[in-house]
Amino acid sequence: MVGVDQVLTKLATVIDPDLKKDIVSMGMIKDLELNDGNLKFTLELTTPACPFNDQIEQDVRKAVGEIEGIRNFDLNVTAKVMEGRSLAADEAMSTVKNIIGVASGKGGVGKSTVSLNLALALAQSGAKVGLLDADIYGPSIPLMLGMQKAFMEVDNNKLQPADSHGIKVVSFGFFAEQEHQAAIYRGPIISGILKQFLVDTNWSDLDYLIVDLPPGTGDIPLTLAQTIPITGILVVTTPQDVASNVAVKAIGMFNKLNVPIIGVIENMSYFVCPKCSDKHYVFGEGGAKRISEKYNIPFIGEIPLNSGIMQGSDKGKPVIITDPNSPSAEAIRAAAKNVAAQCSILAAKLKEEMQGDAAA
Ligand SMILES: Nc1ncnc2c1ncn2[C@@H]1O[C@H](COP(=O)(O)OP(=O)(O)O)[C@@H](O)[C@H]1O
Ligand SMILES: [Mg+2]
Repeated sequence: MVGVDQVLTKLATVIDPDLKKDIVSMGMIKDLELNDGNLKFTLELTTPACPFNDQIEQDVRKAVGEIEGIRNFDLNVTAKVMEGRSLAADEAMSTVKNIIGVASGKGGVGKSTVSLNLALALAQSGAKVGLLDADIYGPSIPLMLGMQKAFMEVDNNKLQPADSHGIKVVSFGFFAEQEHQAAIYRGPIISGILKQFLVDTNWSDLDYLIVDLPPGTGDIPLTLAQTIPITGILVVTTPQDVASNVAVKAIGMFNKLNVPIIGVIENMSYFVCPKCSDKHYVFGEGGAKRISEKYNIPFIGEIPLNSGIMQGSDKGKPVIITDPNSPSAEAIRAAAKNVAAQCSILAAKLKEEMQGDAAA
């Protein structure tokens, strides 16, 4: 009669394409029951937004189908996002599994657009998501979400994030009068505000917190990298930005600070002609891909130019919600899956390092 060992040996032939490890040693098989050829277990994936979730499930079904003596198979698939940062070292934010900073060399490349739509795409996949607008000088998330009148409550000395489309949002733009004040804030004050937004906010349980950073390598990106352990940085470029190499400066700074780079995403990459559906690379092609190859960082995707993105942003209507079938929305969803996959990879590495440390 077929035994649990046999089942596990067979399941261990299924490899997670991102993590390059078998699903048994990654602990993805839970609650396994085997009675008289009736097999039942839960497959716990590392993120609901994994690009290979369907493939892993199919591989599992195929593997089980090849085991002799299985009469019934009852598979339950769930996802539990892995911790992509050391929570033990971070009591202040121990309910936030992953923190992703969105950075760029210069302004106007679409960091806020990418941050917001990425957050929404991850939430749509079933993850719990927060968005911290850390551009204290020029917060644009409230406008992009149509939340100019929103404000944050303080409860028990903790900021309560505002809610929008199922994500938790914190922005300096929710505070009145920020327009006149931001200009006079300097280094230490700005750093203090960001720290408070991070650790004095009641984020509750989050799988991913996206932090929309101001451009460049100033106080705010530095504070984020140094205040708390973060999963990593997503670098946004445009084809022109790539040409002038400013994105590389940001990458260099985070490398020096030992902050992992989740990958590089190119925005405004091409224009899809509405008449012929051809892609036109108006600003040149393949810049972010070259950065990814040269610096050995993952390529997360390219997002086309879309006049709807701009109009939608100004009216508080993110493209992923209002035009979910547009090429831009599709590109963002694909990018979100890649980001989630890279977070799982970083989490697996971290887990291994911690186990190594514990064993040593
Ligand atoms: N893919 C795109 N297609 C068209 N317009 C875009 C796209 N991405 C961003 N934009 C527009 O470009 C401007 C700058 O984007 P934003 O996200 O505010 O950049 P950043 O945060 O890097 O300064 C905004 O008006 C935004 O609506
Ligand atoms: Mg911005």
